Amino acid sequence: MFSGTKINISEEAARCLLCYDAPCSNACGHGFRPDKAVRAVRFDNVISAASKINQNVCAECVGECERACIHYDFPVRIREIIRKLPQSKKCRADLSIEFCGVKCENPFFLSSSIVAANYDMIARAFDAGWGGAVFKTIGKYVVHEVSPRFDAIKKDATPFAGFKNLEQISEHTLEENLEVISRLKKDYPSKVIIASIMGQNEEEWTEIAELCEKAGADMIECNFSCPQMAADGMGSDVGQNPELVKLYTRCVKKKTTIPVLAKMTPNIEDMTVPAIKAIEGGADAIAAINTIKSITAVDLEKMQSLPDINGKSAVSGYSGKAVKPIALRFICDMAKCEKLKGIPLSGMGGIETWQDAAEFIALGCENIQVTTSVMQYGYRIVEDMISGLSEFMVTNGYTRLSDLVGKALGNIVPAEKLDRETIVYPIISKEKCIGCGRCYISCQDAGHQAIEFDQERIPKIKGAECAGCQLCSLVCPAGAISRSKRINRRRC
Ligand SMILES: Cc1cc2nc3c(=O)[nH]c(=O)nc-3n(C[C@H](O)[C@H](O)[C@H](O)COP(=O)(O)O)c2cc1C
Repeated sequence: MFSGTKINISEEAARCLLCYDAPCSNACGHGFRPDKAVRAVRFDNVISAASKINQNVCAECVGECERACIHYDFPVRIREIIRKLPQSKKCRADLSIEFCGVKCENPFFLSSSIVAANYDMIARAFDAGWGGAVFKTIGKYVVHEVSPRFDAIKKDATPFAGFKNLEQISEHTLEENLEVISRLKKDYPSKVIIASIMGQNEEEWTEIAELCEKAGADMIECNFSCPQMAADGMGSDVGQNPELVKLYTRCVKKKTTIPVLAKMTPNIEDMTVPAIKAIEGGADAIAAINTIKSITAVDLEKMQSLPDINGKSAVSGYSGKAVKPIALRFICDMAKCEKLKGIPLSGMGGIETWQDAAEFIALGCENIQVTTSVMQYGYRIVEDMISGLSEFMVTNGYTRLSDLVGKALGNIVPAEKLDRETIVYPIISKEKCIGCGRCYISCQDAGHQAIEFDQERIPKIKGAECAGCQLCSLVCPAGAISRSKRINRRRC
């Protein structure tokens, strides 16, 4: 039977190394896939995790899966996770959606980058379930890349809290890339292929766009946003110049008939300005965000930053989990902008789970793109995106994905419109509190000195002093602080 202490299954699943050809599943004498069950939990898809195994059979098992676990520390408590899983629901919602008039079997696309760089990669991604791919940016500019070209900010169980890259556009020739786009479209007619392009002048933008349409691309995405091009007047240099955005979008539209997306740079205060110019130039949709200019760290021994390229480094693009809040803010700005009303949005920046994706959709995106989490975990993450979003839609009564688009927008208002007359107090659970005092420390040093300890080392709220900021509930490591009902503020 099951052993082990009380565990939080999400935290335990986060310890899983997400192995290739997982030894735990290979060892399972019943032919189940415990790796997939744990992975589903890891990617917030708890509800369908149990469908990968049989809980009754697992309950009687001696645990070959755990014995085979190669975790460097101690085995992941797979049976304990399985035991705590809710009954699996078989939910299959229709995730298809039209984007710029093009039917997509689901909204999940690879974003333009190394994850969508050749035929074999994209074919494998399509086989895994991705609805489409934005091909790695192509052009005539010949790149010479640096080595190494990545750095990552690591935090606890999250190896890439944020990710920095110095990559430019495709290393393959324009001709090679066009041939691959053609072949992909022929072999995967129901999948959507967006050609990401970058020109060096007006003629090149027009020519490359025309060639992509001829090759069979369903849409074109104009890369106005790469922040680390090693030549002036390309990438985010364009995106930061609204008139150039309009000019080059016009050039792209000149000899093409397929929908055109303009991909925006976040290295700008107000993204709506270049986005409006792109629409004036004829763009059909906006994609955002590309990476944020960054320096991830400075090595204080060597006094140089990372990645170390022969002693030097450069400012370059930041992506992954850490940028999601910034991406959502830009998406919201554009979705709420009167002059961009009705313009389809493709959102990206830190999407890792179906929930991340659903948040972008709820703020107005009809299409989702992903790079960094695929770099980290592989194409397989789309499985949990599909089943997690399906389950959410079925449970919440959404029959079409389009019904979810923009649903949360009305609840994001200017700060001056927020309710300042009511308050939500913290409620400390005696049962859950472990007496660590983290709430006390934060309230003393960064709050309103509204927490005191009782004789048993259990914190108590001093109602008159508490401002309801909820810092205490955010720092509590035991999940022991919940929130009261909203009530009217006491007036002095
Ligand atoms: C290694 C790497 C290469 C990239 N190459 C391109 C590119 O060729 N064209 C482009 O438009 N964006 C490129 N991007 C940006 C991504 O498409 C995406 O906009 C950004 O990384 C944010 O999404 P994410 O957090 O899911 O990675 C690249 C990103 C990374 C990490």
